[in-house]
Amino acid sequence: MTKAVLGIIGGSGIYDLPGLEDVREEAIASPWGEPSSAVRRGNIAGLPIVFMPRHDKGHRLSPSDINYRANIDVLKRAGVTDLISLSACGSFKEELPPGTFVLVDQFVDRTYKRESSFFGKGCVAHVSMAHPVSPRLRIHLAAAADAEGIPVARGGTYLCMEGPQFSSYAESMTYKQLGYSVIGMTNMPEAKLAREAEICYATVAMVTDFDCWHPDHDAVTVQDIVRVLTSNAEKAKSLVARLAQDFPREHEECPIGSDRALDAAFITAPEA
Ligand code: ADE
Repeated sequence: MTKAVLGIIGGSGIYDLPGLEDVREEAIASPWGEPSSAVRRGNIAGLPIVFMPRHDKGHRLSPSDINYRANIDVLKRAGVTDLISLSACGSFKEELPPGTFVLVDQFVDRTYKRESSFFGKGCVAHVSMAHPVSPRLRIHLAAAADAEGIPVARGGTYLCMEGPQFSSYAESMTYKQLGYSVIGMTNMPEAKLAREAEICYATVAMVTDFDCWHPDHDAVTVQDIVRVLTSNAEKAKSLVARLAQDFPREHEECPIGSDRALDAAFITAPEA
């Protein structure tokens, strides 16, 4: 049996994890370069937790400048079995207003400036991304949200754009018409790399704005986003506390095989 270690990646507005006990900072080196920051290791309700602020304190790193490979590698080295990404996002749906938490189950990757695989050049692997989110983690997150009285939308598609600029009106309308739920700048290639690292991954997409398609919200502004971020961060804190309290102490095998994704992925012959 493998001990469960919960990883938490904090996005915009979440640079710390209040409630984390017995905290120690650990600078873990990675052959993939510099991670966003040292990890903060501790526990909540006795569950081992490893926290990493994706943009680092002070929001030093823009989405395109984050070393996603180093971050996932460092979390893997820290023993993380299950990873929750807490991420600010814009919404494409009237029924998902600012303040809503969405447990997305799909991603569309429109990033183009990021290293998105640990493989290639001599060692080629193709992991499945048909179901990028661990259904088991989504169930635990939904149960924790229910227990805390935090309304969550179950399911939805997260469009990951390159940024750092927000979308044009035409882009926003297109994504809306395609039926996507939310938009952010960071969850890809993070989810792909977590899969390659055989870490179960789930996102809590925390809506901060309506993007620019909405007739009453002409343009996205950072000021609007920051206003909602603070209250979202408070809710995220109680969600994580409850999740940790009720989380299984032994790692549960992933029903879709996220934790053994490489078993059927290598195409390069071992002796090649
Ligand atoms: N993060 C928060 N709001 C966003 C938006 N509207 N577009 C992209 N990323 C976001």
